[in-house]
Amino acid sequence: GAPVMVDFSKLEPGQQIAVSWRGKPVWVLRRTPKMLKDLRSSTIRDKLRDPDSAVESQQPAYAKNEFRAIKAEYLVVIGICTHLGCVPTFRPDVAPADLGRDWLGGYFCPCHGSRFDLAGRVFKGVPAPTNLVIPPYRFISDTKVLVG
Ligand code: FES
Repeated sequence: GAPVMVDFSKLEPGQQIAVSWRGKPVWVLRRTPKMLKDLRSSTIRDKLRDPDSAVESQQPAYAKNEFRAIKAEYLVVIGICTHLGCVPTFRPDVAPADLGRDWLGGYFCPCHGSRFDLAGRVFKGVPAPTNLVIPPYRFISDTKVLVG
């Protein structure tokens, strides 16, 4: 499939947009400073299955870092659950029912309850085996990326 250009110049902090690439949803999330801070929380880190993105297949080498991104502010991720392929929902704010699970919000898969953080990292104890996939992408300007 051809690469897809995403223009996120209208994206406010905390918002994400979706495009389709090779028939798959790809999200671009503009993370807020609080979101980035939460991703570094050591309490959360202990709950993650692969906090350091050790599974090579789940991201390009340039996204193997603490924010799983080229630029920390922008997450570019394939919106397909690594369990059985459902599309997770974007839940940037933690729901009351999730308090006590140390979940600070992220992506939640409605099919079998897998939880991911706002870097697409999977939590322990859910059916999804791996982090969400980061597709190949590059910045072509400050507010545009080419996915693919
Ligand atoms: Fe997402 Fe099963 S497909 S938890």
